[in-house]
Amino acid sequence: MKKFRSVAIDGPAGAGKSTLARQAARELGYLYVDTGAIYRTVALRVLRSGADASDPAQVISLLDRMEIRMDYGADGEQRMFLDGEDVTRSIRENAVSGLASQVSAIPAVRDFLLEYQRATAREHNVVMDGRDIGTVVLPDADVKIFLTASLDARARRRVNDLVQRGQTADFETIRREVEERDLRDQTRSVAPLKRAEDATVLDTSSLTLEESLLALLKLIREPVVP
Ligand code: DC
Repeated sequence: MKKFRSVAIDGPAGAGKSTLARQAARELGYLYVDTGAIYRTVALRVLRSGADASDPAQVISLLDRMEIRMDYGADGEQRMFLDGEDVTRSIRENAVSGLASQVSAIPAVRDFLLEYQRATAREHNVVMDGRDIGTVVLPDADVKIFLTASLDARARRRVNDLVQRGQTADFETIRREVEERDLRDQTRSVAPLKRAEDATVLDTSSLTLEESLLALLKLIREPVVP
């Protein structure tokens, strides 16, 4: 018998998923699960090992030799551990983003992480964000939202994010990277980024963060019946 509620939020890079999903989860008292962070942790391992991310065999050979753990700090924030080391900050580096998109296109990587994500939703009320939550990970989620925004709006937000973290970022370069990542995430053969048929679209291009959060909470509290 299903005991917990799940909210699935999917969408392209930079749509504001993590910020909004985190805040919505806090508001609802649910656990926020950032599944991109899990793929990023695999990518960091690949980066550190010097393996070629475009060669599935090299990536797959690392899977059984890495220990990935997700934990929640006293502040309620999700933390990622790789072989016992807290890598929560390192996985946010720009070099990891492209690699995460590459390793996430490998079916064996997705299989490896699937049950881990599902188990979390079986044990908690969750707001889970990613690319395939409503379509593959939690097809029976209670609420499904496809959160999106224009390419320019998303690239601008990504630049601001990086600058705030003290990294340098050039708008045109970031825009191209976001576009490439979209294309790769949307065209991969396994679990591509796409809207679940029963997901409601929320476009945040012209909304402030505050407005987006209100709209998101409204959709979660009063789901649109498809
Ligand atoms: O959300 P993010 O930018 O942290 O995700 C990093 C990459 O991981 C993204 O380019 C695609 C991949 N990803 C995925 O394939 N499936 C998910 N559920 C989450 C992320």
